[in-house]
Amino acid sequence: MAATQLSHVLPLGSRVNDLGHLEIGGCDALELAREFGTPAYFVAEDDIRTRARAYVEAMRARHDDFDVLFASKAFPCTAVYRLLAEEGLVCDVASGGELALALRGGFDPKRIYLHGNAKSLAELEQAIDAGIGHVVLDSFMDIDRLERVAADRGVSQRVLIRVTPGVAGRTHAKISTGQADSKFGFGLDDAKLAIERLRGSGSLELVGLHMHIGSQLLSLEAYRPAVEALATLGDFPVYNFGGGLGVAYTAGQQPPAIEEWVDANVSALHELLGRDKRLLIEPGRSLVANSTVTLYTVETVKRNVSTWVGVDGGMSDNLRPMLYGSVYEAFFADRPQLAGTGETAHVAGKHCESGDVIVRDVPLADPQPGDVLVTPATGAYGHAMASNYNGIPRPPVIFCKDGDARVVVRRETYDDLAARDV
Ligand SMILES: Cc1ncc(COP(=O)(O)O)c(C=O)c1O
Repeated sequence: MAATQLSHVLPLGSRVNDLGHLEIGGCDALELAREFGTPAYFVAEDDIRTRARAYVEAMRARHDDFDVLFASKAFPCTAVYRLLAEEGLVCDVASGGELALALRGGFDPKRIYLHGNAKSLAELEQAIDAGIGHVVLDSFMDIDRLERVAADRGVSQRVLIRVTPGVAGRTHAKISTGQADSKFGFGLDDAKLAIERLRGSGSLELVGLHMHIGSQLLSLEAYRPAVEALATLGDFPVYNFGGGLGVAYTAGQQPPAIEEWVDANVSALHELLGRDKRLLIEPGRSLVANSTVTLYTVETVKRNVSTWVGVDGGMSDNLRPMLYGSVYEAFFADRPQLAGTGETAHVAGKHCESGDVIVRDVPLADPQPGDVLVTPATGAYGHAMASNYNGIPRPPVIFCKDGDARVVVRRETYDDLAARDV
């Protein structure tokens, strides 16, 4: 398997340059590693823009009244918020911190939706004081609390109800969210009660229903039954069908195209709810995952029962393999043509956990200390879930475009590790 067979896993526009090195956003990956150090997230800026435009164009071609929301939990960094605000997207935040970053990144508060199954009073106050457009309600206590905050301030707040339609998207159990037994949203019976409850509210204006049935979905079949379930709850002007479109992490994965996913959702809307609705969609992973590669440096190569290639990062920069057994590709930046060839090895992180393995059973072409190792498709839930475990400073985020690279989040320092000490 040469790098060309990874083209749907790598950022759009990636190539092997004349030196035989991987190039991201027009920048030589080996040069990037030398200049910015490793581990680091390198983002092909144009990749994110292209996918955002694909979502907007696909919606525009099929439906009049819509918005595309960036589910910002996937990549909550100011520069990404700014980029997607520039592209005309709307924003979904799931905490006060994401709200603060979205505002900093330039999103108009009216174009922000606040989610969360356990929003605090402080977060609700922060949202209302910021003049946020919509709050997505998740429980009866959420309703009571937001109603009090809005009434105290004398404002009328627009809200949606998050519904768990009793349909689970086919994905890993930890990222399936549409089933009845879920910490998220209202089941269908409770949703009816919540709708009734909100009809009598003086300070909350119910405009519509929300669902998000799961993440990393590689088939579209669950959307229609989920929309059918929403349709039993009455007629609303606004529907939010969430995100969930899967991405290719490995060469063998072929997710539906953005246009196919949009088509499935819009068709279900038109057939089951009508054409006169405002349709919101909320992609996260499929906007940002493939835009980014993480570069690591190989520190050690150890051979016992297996071959262990130890790199300078791990679960502190990519928790997904440990959290849900997620799979990745790995190859070397200076010989991408040899991707998929060589000795079968495990790419191990540097943390004090046996489970800290980033990629298992991946062929690696003659791994040596000092090699720069690439794991593609780390733009979603990588930086977002990074930690300081083992006192590792979190990696920088570097935007690459037309051969220029710029730091948008700097690498943490040891002083940062002690910055909250009192
Ligand atoms: C409410 C909500 N909307 C959207 C998303 C984005 O999902 P994805 O990244 O799979 O597109 C999530 C992910 O957890 C979510 O919880």
